[in-house]
Amino acid sequence: MKFLKFNEIDSTNNYMKENISSFENYDIVSAKVQTSGRGRRGNTWLSPEGMALFSFLLKPEKEFSIIEATKLPLLAGISTLSALKKIKDGAYSFKWTNDVFLSGKKLCGILIERVKDDFVIGIGINVANKIPDDIKNIAISMESDYDIDKLILKVVEEFSIYYKRFSEGKWKEIVEEINSYNFLKDKKIRVNIGDKVFEGIARNIVEDGRIKIEMDGEIKLFSVGEIKIEKDYYL
Ligand code: BTN
Repeated sequence: MKFLKFNEIDSTNNYMKENISSFENYDIVSAKVQTSGRGRRGNTWLSPEGMALFSFLLKPEKEFSIIEATKLPLLAGISTLSALKKIKDGAYSFKWTNDVFLSGKKLCGILIERVKDDFVIGIGINVANKIPDDIKNIAISMESDYDIDKLILKVVEEFSIYYKRFSEGKWKEIVEEINSYNFLKDKKIRVNIGDKVFEGIARNIVEDGRIKIEMDGEIKLFSVGEIKIEKDYYL
């Protein structure tokens, strides 16, 4: 397994995508600082020193269907949560579909990008960095001097364990575990569907990776591409 470490780079996801043919399954690229870190939905990901900033490659043995691919963020999320928990126990939760929360605030973000049949799994965890004042209400850092390389290796190791279970048909068990950390469960949320805003109550994540949302007494299922959950509105 290769573990390439940069002091500064534009984005570890970009680097891995641009050099994909030189990487094998579970090879890792990390950086102390990213100058053009990318988040989901085209957002910028601020990447100061002290964060764990890394990408690793998943090369599935066979081509993934779209449904299987939508399960990957959930697998990456539960793997990261489990690695963090093993390093230091805490009030972690999983916010569908891609975030790990600590004490109700975002601790980690995950950006997964497909390159033909392979997946670049990019993760950013607030480890030792300070959170800027303007986002302190929604983000949190562990503010701890953990060995970041060890943490990265632990996350990738946990992912490989969960992925093996997933490949062996244990997905149902994994979803149950994910639901036991489901941050949104039973919270009142506000979602954007197309250009309309709806209110509802989030319920469990189901096996195909969608989430149940109760709206006007009716349970509806949504996939990540269909809705956007408003950031500051969990009651
Ligand atoms: C999000 O929550 O929007 C996802 C953030 C993902 C950030 C990580 S940091 C390492 C990797 N490289 C990037 O440019 N992005 C991901």
